[in-house]
Amino acid sequence: MNKLTAKVIKKFIEYYEGDNLRVNHALKVYGFAASIGALEGLEEDELLCLEIAAVLHDIGIKLSEIKYNSAAGNYQELEGPPEARKLLEEFRLDEKLVERVCYLIGHHHSYSYIDGLDFQILIEADFLVNIFENNLKGEAIQPLKNKYFKTDSGKMYFDTLYII
Ligand SMILES: [Fe+2]
Repeated sequence: MNKLTAKVIKKFIEYYEGDNLRVNHALKVYGFAASIGALEGLEEDELLCLEIAAVLHDIGIKLSEIKYNSAAGNYQELEGPPEARKLLEEFRLDEKLVERVCYLIGHHHSYSYIDGLDFQILIEADFLVNIFENNLKGEAIQPLKNKYFKTDSGKMYFDTLYII
C-alpha cells in the first residue's frame, strides 16, 4: 500500500470514528479498486488517485445525514467533495489529483458521467461490495453485471464472487 493511501485511511477512520459500517465499506471498496486498478494496468499516479477516491468515496454521507437526514446519492455528491478537500489539505497534494478525487466522489452515483478507467473501476468496486452488503442474489444482480461492469478484472471478480 502506498504510504499516502495509508495516511488517508487513518484520517478517514478518524473522520468516521465509531462508525464501523462506513469504515469497513470504504476499506472493502478500496481493496477491490486497488486490485482491479493494478490488474487493469493503471499508471502509478492514476492508481493513487483511484485508491484515495475509493477510501473517501462515501465521505459525504456523514454531512448528508446531519444536514438532510438522508444519505441519498445526490446529497452525498454535493457534500462529499468539500469534505474530501478538507481532509486532504494537510498532505499538500497536486491540485490536479485533488480535483480528480473530488470529481470521482462528486459523481460516483452518476453513472452517465463515467469518463475514465479510474471512474469505471470505482463504480465496479462499489458494486462488488454493495451486492454483498445488501445481500443481493441471483436474478437481482445479473443485470448489474451487464450494465455496470466493463473491465475484465471487475467482471472476473463478479463471476467469481457471485456465481449465478
Ligand atoms: Fe460506497
